[in-house]
Amino acid sequence: MQTITVRGGQRLCGEVIIHGAKNSALPLLAATLLVHGISEIHNCPHLSDVRASMAILRHLGCRVTRQEDTVTVDATAPIGSDIPDELMREMRSSIVFLGAIIARCGEATMSYPGGCELGPRPIDLHLAALRRLGVTVEERHGHICCRAENGLHGAEITLAFPSVGATENVLLAACMAQGTTVLRHAAREPEIQDLCAYLNACGARIHSTEAGVLTIEGVPHLHGCAHRVMPDRIEAATYLAAAAATGGELTLRRCCAEDTSPVFPALEESGCVIRAVASGDGLQTLSVKAPARLRPLGTVRTMPYPGFPTDAAAPLLAAACVADGTSVFVESIFENRYKYVDELARMGARIRVDGRVAVVEGVPALQGASVACTDLRGGAALIVAALAAAGQTTVCELKHLDRGYADLTDSLRAVGADIRRE
Ligand code: EPZ
Repeated sequence: MQTITVRGGQRLCGEVIIHGAKNSALPLLAATLLVHGISEIHNCPHLSDVRASMAILRHLGCRVTRQEDTVTVDATAPIGSDIPDELMREMRSSIVFLGAIIARCGEATMSYPGGCELGPRPIDLHLAALRRLGVTVEERHGHICCRAENGLHGAEITLAFPSVGATENVLLAACMAQGTTVLRHAAREPEIQDLCAYLNACGARIHSTEAGVLTIEGVPHLHGCAHRVMPDRIEAATYLAAAAATGGELTLRRCCAEDTSPVFPALEESGCVIRAVASGDGLQTLSVKAPARLRPLGTVRTMPYPGFPTDAAAPLLAAACVADGTSVFVESIFENRYKYVDELARMGARIRVDGRVAVVEGVPALQGASVACTDLRGGAALIVAALAAAGQTTVCELKHLDRGYADLTDSLRAVGADIRRE
């Protein structure tokens, strides 16, 4: 079993390049199924979740190749309509293939996406929306069997919660439906905009009349195109947290400042100075300079975009563990996002969790310990804490980290961390 070993206490200084966003690459790869042709997805991160999505596309009958940061998908041939259990189990977000497979095949079969470390992962909002588009859903022996007997048709849909995944499934199912769909209370995350940009470049007709409302006019077919995945705002937030936790000074290249900005207020509250400079390619270079000792981050309440992103809470909570005072985190998106807190406690962190609220009492220093990743972003929190801790920390269960962070160890070593993976 591989482990990461960190000798903490080094101030991080230097430059990091931010990769393409995992949570955009996954729905984009699912969307390539809609195209009777070839799509080139550039800036596609090297992550295990991306490899799992490529395996699903291949299983369905697509030709999928990768050349460095570009994944090419040829979905010309007729495709299958079922995702086998082992592939569904590997990646919970495979549910985003549902809408695309139904749109392409008129039916889809897959097992219920397993729950994950964040608590149950219901898909009621996905299924309710797909039913509005003409899908009948049968649940048999843990499998979901969907059929659009009379094809997919436009509908007026209002989501009970601005679910990212449900919004993506509606977009994929509606863009070649008969007629127009109006989706209200849609998710507004930047990854949704990235997906719409790709679909419109393929010939779809999606536009947003007002925040949280998406209008999708069905078109008869989509053609292939090339698309560049947006920068990963959560990866960027993770490096900002690492700089904050170590009193460091980092420059992050190939970011989108606006997408990442919901985490700036908490970091600025703690004494970090963050600057964004245009880098000419429509992106920005972010720089962060942290104080020697953080002040508390205040109260961090996670919300749907443009609020504070739930995925960035764990890394920032890790930085809050060494702040000079008490910070409060309120998780309003997922049921159980604090599994990693017990691991931080092994490093001397003083955190009280009560349901969705975590009260973090900063300590002068954390102590290195042997810890295990419980989930993707909880694993990132352990790395951030290890970078700040006195002494040596060993982190195991790295499969969680590999789902969402490419070459994390190398990037951190390049900015001064004493870190190695073996
Ligand atoms: C996406 O998950 C992201 N994953 C998550 O990132 C992210 O935390 C989440 O959006 C919120 O921003 C991907 O994009 C692959 P949701 P998703 O549907 O689509 C409940 C990471 O670390 N819900 O917006 O699953 C659900 O249980 C991951 O990169 C229902 O109740 O999120 C949750 O409490 C973690 N019924 C809340 O809504 C449904 O039908 C938000 O879920 C769907 C969701």
